[in-house]
Amino acid sequence: MLDHERVAIHTGSRSRLPVIVAVHSTALGPAAGGLRLWHYPDWRDGLTDALRLSAAMTSKFAVAGLPSGGGKAVVALPEGVELDPGRRREVLRDVADVIDSLGGMYATGPDVGTGPADMAVIGETTPHVFCRPAHLGGSGDSSPHTARGTLAALRAVSRRLYGTASLKGRGLAIVGLGRVGAGLARLLAAEGAALTVTDIDPDKERISDELGAVWRAPGEILAADVDIVVPSALGSVLTERNVAELRCRAVVGPANNQLAAPHVADLLHHRGIIWVPDYVASAGGVINAISAELHHADADTAHARVRAIEDTVSDLLETAQRLGRTPAQAADELALRRLGAASSLRQGV
Ligand code: PHE
Repeated sequence: MLDHERVAIHTGSRSRLPVIVAVHSTALGPAAGGLRLWHYPDWRDGLTDALRLSAAMTSKFAVAGLPSGGGKAVVALPEGVELDPGRRREVLRDVADVIDSLGGMYATGPDVGTGPADMAVIGETTPHVFCRPAHLGGSGDSSPHTARGTLAALRAVSRRLYGTASLKGRGLAIVGLGRVGAGLARLLAAEGAALTVTDIDPDKERISDELGAVWRAPGEILAADVDIVVPSALGSVLTERNVAELRCRAVVGPANNQLAAPHVADLLHHRGIIWVPDYVASAGGVINAISAELHHADADTAHARVRAIEDTVSDLLETAQRLGRTPAQAADELALRRLGAASSLRQGV
């Protein structure tokens, strides 16, 4: 069953590449979600990603308490295709056309493979775009805010497990040093955490050295002997098989769609490992962008909303324990409640 309100699939008129925009739900408000410019073996894999990621955005907004809906855009690049600046512009203008044709039902933002400069190009065609550079009136790069939001989630988990929100001396394994992962690693290093890190790009070992972290091969990091594993790269890192190898007490990170399948959350729970749903831990970027650009909140207010992820996670962990649920179930139930309340309001029930 298709449970999305609208899915637009276009062949870009300039780039000839598949442009996919998935609007999962506008029950809470117009949809938002980033633009992923990434390689897929087949464009249909990009569609699958867009469907899953947009549904997660709906939950992300609902649990964060923001009046926005879930959407996502994906441009599926064939393997091995790299975009030179001219072609990248064509792709972005194609995406902007599709977004504009939706008339405000969906607004985009940065995601894996895109950043504020790309949002500036999209902004030349359509107003439905977040995170343009500050000089163009946008809230800029969302990744530092996503990193700070994840730090807030980590504090809540630390308080639950160890009775203190401080991460000083705590062993954390960061899986992926992209913009968010590297930013989070810096925040954690400044706090005195003991870091183990990895990335598929061997050049990132430089960041590891700079931070005094221990570098591991990507295939080895999940089984590292650490307190908390922090997935910060692409999705589906947690599988039935590798959950059995984890030695940590919690998994909390900013990557979207961390579970290879939903029941992996139950496997984590049965192993006594706290898993904070990715859509809760990763909400800092959208919270900041939407607070600043839609609600015209000042920077302090927006930052305070990002920090409030700590309370959201504490409440979820507490509710989950009280009701004998996994944190994933508690979060899903909260999201569904808020979505249900919104649709019954609209229907005048
Ligand atoms: N990549 C962001 C996320 O997954 C998407 C986003 C950021 C959308 C900022 C709008 C504004 O949450």
